[in-house]
Amino acid sequence: MSEYSHLAPLSKQQRSQLVQAAQSVANRAYAPYSHFQVGAAVLTETGQIFGGCNVENASYGLAICAERAAIFAAIAQEGGANFQIRAIAVVHANRLPLSPCGACRQVIAEFGPDAEVIFSTAEGEISVSMTELLPHSFRLDPL
Ligand code: THU
Repeated sequence: MSEYSHLAPLSKQQRSQLVQAAQSVANRAYAPYSHFQVGAAVLTETGQIFGGCNVENASYGLAICAERAAIFAAIAQEGGANFQIRAIAVVHANRLPLSPCGACRQVIAEFGPDAEVIFSTAEGEISVSMTELLPHSFRLDPL
């Protein structure tokens, strides 16, 4: 079994390491239109961490969120989509409260139905399960 068991929640130290990774990539976000810089860090079940940031475009609708950028980076770099998200942290560069958008929840659910999702609220960071964040996510197979 890997160091990051599916059953055990992340330790405080693992959680802060992941938030730190998200924080450092948030500073690389390209957000000249919204000025809302976001960073995300994915922890896979094998213990690897992949970062992503939001990247906007003059054609506004083409923006990609940090969460999806991080997941797509994991797929491109870890040998395809054969991996599970153990946890994902999402932060604003200046630590404004932020919760993952609906589109990103659906994408996180695809690769991490049991993932722990860490994000900032006005009361500080919280950690919730994907099933809490997106119950009844869309699936092609019959329920
Ligand atoms: N954004 C993210 O990167 N993640 C989210 O979960 C919500 C929104 C980005 C998209 C856009 O570049 C900016 O934040 C403002 O919506």
